[in-house]
Amino acid sequence: MKKVGIIGQRGMVGSVLIERMLAEGDFNKIDATFFSTSQAGETGPEILGTAKPLADAFSVEALSEMDIIISCQGGDYTKEVHPKLRTHKWQGYWIDAASALRMDKDAVIILDPVNMDVIEKAIESGVKDFVGGNCTVSLMLMGVGGLFKADLVEWMTSMTYQAASGGGARHMKELITQMGQIGETAKPLMDGNILELDSTLSSLLRSNEVNSECFGVPLALNLIPWIDVPLDNGQTKEEWKAVSETNKILGRENNQIPIDGTCVRVGALRCHSQALTIKLKKDIPLDEIETIIRESNPWVEFVENTPEATREKLNPRYVTGTLKTVVGRVRKMNLGPEYLNVFTSGDQLLWGAAEPLRRMLNILL
Ligand code: HSE
Repeated sequence: MKKVGIIGQRGMVGSVLIERMLAEGDFNKIDATFFSTSQAGETGPEILGTAKPLADAFSVEALSEMDIIISCQGGDYTKEVHPKLRTHKWQGYWIDAASALRMDKDAVIILDPVNMDVIEKAIESGVKDFVGGNCTVSLMLMGVGGLFKADLVEWMTSMTYQAASGGGARHMKELITQMGQIGETAKPLMDGNILELDSTLSSLLRSNEVNSECFGVPLALNLIPWIDVPLDNGQTKEEWKAVSETNKILGRENNQIPIDGTCVRVGALRCHSQALTIKLKKDIPLDEIETIIRESNPWVEFVENTPEATREKLNPRYVTGTLKTVVGRVRKMNLGPEYLNVFTSGDQLLWGAAEPLRRMLNILL
């Protein structure tokens, strides 16, 4: 059995990864060791009835014994430990949730339902570093990757509606806390004048009384059109990832498809949604587009462009906690027959984070 080291299992992505690995029976196929950056020696999680002590996540010797390492510990950990392991001539496979290595020329961004060909070629040519993509990018490609694979996309814009979970567990709790505080403030005013209710809540949001340590401002009853750090060109880093990671996943680094848009944090809990404008290379009938999307992978669920279906399925409420990627509002735009409108939503902790990692483990096994 291959020795597999897992780091960062207590965090948001790590917890979902373990949940999925248990659900799919992955632990039956591996000899797993859990590592910790702060609790080495203490008892690790109980898996299949046994709990081993946690190994030291900073011990190059202990890590080097692994055939495969999966890290959900974050970029700083990767930057510190990964180069030491490689200098130590460790030849194992490194699977990472963090973005630190994503754009390295020797690393591949993994999303096997979309780029299995790129992954297979990389394994054959000796690539050892495999990194999960940005959640928004992965979810967009799970939804409309078929159009890219068919080389039908001239350019695309993506306007996102990203959930609190993109920031981590603390951000999710902060959103819920804000909602609770708003609910409490509103309760005595619910039978009264709507303008009084509105102005009381508006004042609350503008005051310093709403806990907003993680987001900087209240997210509940609000939105924040800024995610990640600024770049010199006015984009945020999250927005830059759309063009750079999409093209890398597709193996098109030297023949890039232009992609840009605005990334927005909204008060959803763990599902990212996106409104896409796709400029097609030619005018293709809608039924052909629907077929390409439906057949691109088994997890796509095509949603009819009707009010009922859209309300029921094309949203975080429907997809949360599932591997479905819903794609709907598919229609030609008034801009011309080559302009396609699409809306898509998916769970950013599953296909957007944990799922590609455990699938990469299985590909390697
Ligand atoms: N950067 C993403 C977000 C999450 O903030 O929503 C991880 O890809």
